[in-house]
Amino acid sequence: MKIEDCRTDFPITRDLIYLDSAATSLTPKPVVQAMVEYDLRYRANVGRGMHRLAVVATHRYRDARDAVRSFVGGDGGALAVTRNTTEAIGAVAAGLAWQRGDRVVTTLLEHHSNLLPWLRLRERGVAVDIVRPDSEGCLDLADLEAAIRDDTRLVAVTHASNVLGTVLPVREIAGICRDRGARLLVDGAQSAPHLPVDVAAIGCDYFCFSGHKMLGPTGTGALWMRRPDLEPLFVGGGSVESATAEGYILAPGEQRYEAGTPPIAGVIGLARAAAYLREIGMETVRRHEERLAARLIDGLAALDGVTVAGPDASGERIGVVSFTVEGMHPHEAAQVLDEAAAVLVRSGHHCCQPLMEHIGLPDGTVRASTYIYTTAEEVDTMIATVEEISRRAT
Ligand SMILES: Cc1ncc(COP(=O)(O)O)c(C=O)c1O
Repeated sequence: MKIEDCRTDFPITRDLIYLDSAATSLTPKPVVQAMVEYDLRYRANVGRGMHRLAVVATHRYRDARDAVRSFVGGDGGALAVTRNTTEAIGAVAAGLAWQRGDRVVTTLLEHHSNLLPWLRLRERGVAVDIVRPDSEGCLDLADLEAAIRDDTRLVAVTHASNVLGTVLPVREIAGICRDRGARLLVDGAQSAPHLPVDVAAIGCDYFCFSGHKMLGPTGTGALWMRRPDLEPLFVGGGSVESATAEGYILAPGEQRYEAGTPPIAGVIGLARAAAYLREIGMETVRRHEERLAARLIDGLAALDGVTVAGPDASGERIGVVSFTVEGMHPHEAAQVLDEAAAVLVRSGHHCCQPLMEHIGLPDGTVRASTYIYTTAEEVDTMIATVEEISRRAT
C-alpha cells in the first residue's frame, strides 16, 4: 500500500489536523473491522474451550500474538501481552529477582513510565543512577558507559524521545551492556510505531511498546523478553501447567504471563495494525516522518518568537517536534491552535517533568507529532498558524 493512499482509512483526518500521534495514534478502518469481526463472528474465550468458536478464537488470538512478536523481530524470544508500555516496564521492575545493593542505570530523557518504576525500587534497596543529557537533551554515551558498574543489574533507556524526537543508539548501548554484564530494557513506545525495529539485531533483553501508539486499540501493549525469566505479575487461570491444593507449576514460555482472559479483540486488532504498517513498510514510515519532522523544524525555527527544543544535530529522528512560543504558555498555544485552525497538538511536560526542568522548560513545550496519515500541507498549516499566534503574543 502506498503511504499517501492510507488517509481514507482514518475518517478523523477529514475534519481535523491531528498532530498528537505520540500520545495516541488514530486507528484505521481495517483494524476496527478486525476487532468487530471477532466480536460478531467468532467471539469466545481462548486457550480453554473445545467447542468450535473457542478453537477458532484461540488460533486467531495466538497467530495475532505471534504476528506482533514478529513485527519487532522477536521470534527468538517471548512476548507477553500487556495493557501498555507502562505495564510492560512495570512487569520487569516487579518481576526481576532484585537483591539489595543491585543498581539500575537510566537517563533523564525518560518518560515517567521508564523512570518512576526504577525510583520505586529504591524502597527495596536497589540504587538508581540517572545519566543526565546536556542542556539541550543530547546524551553522551561515554557518560552512560561510565555510570554502569559491576553491580549494575539493568540499564533502562528509551529508544526514541517522546519530547525531542531524538533516537538513541540502542544497538551500541546493548553492546556496552553485554560487555559489562548488565541487562538492557528498551522503552520502544515511540520507536515501534515509527521505525523499523528488530529486537534481535538491537540485542536488548526487554523491549516494551504500546499498541495504541501504532494504529492499534487502546488497552494493548507488549513486553518482549529475550528469555521468559521474570516472575509473572499475576498467576491464575491460563498461566499454569498444573495446580494442586499445595501449589502450581507455571506454564512454559510466554503463556505464564497470561493469567486471566487476555484482551482478545485488542490483540487481534493490534496484529492487524502491525500488518497494516508492514503493508506500507516501516522504512517508508520512517522516511515519511523524517521528512515531515525536517519540514516542521525548519518552518518553526524560522519564526520570530518560536524556539524549537532539542539538539541541533541532524541525527536519526522520529516525527516529534517540541517548541515554545515566546510570551505564551504551551497550554494556551495548544488551545489557540485548536480553536484557530483545528490543529491538535499536545502541550505541557509530556510525562517528562525531570527532563523539562533539566532543559530549562519547567512549563513544558508545545509538541507536534506526526504519523503515516500526516501530510506536508497539514504541517504547513500548522506552521502558518503558529506564525500568526506568535505575532499576536509578542
Ligand atoms: C517514551 C514513552 N514511554 C512510555 C510511554 C507510556 O506509554 P503508555 O501510556 O502507553 O503506557 C510513553 C507514552 O507517551 C512514551 O512516549
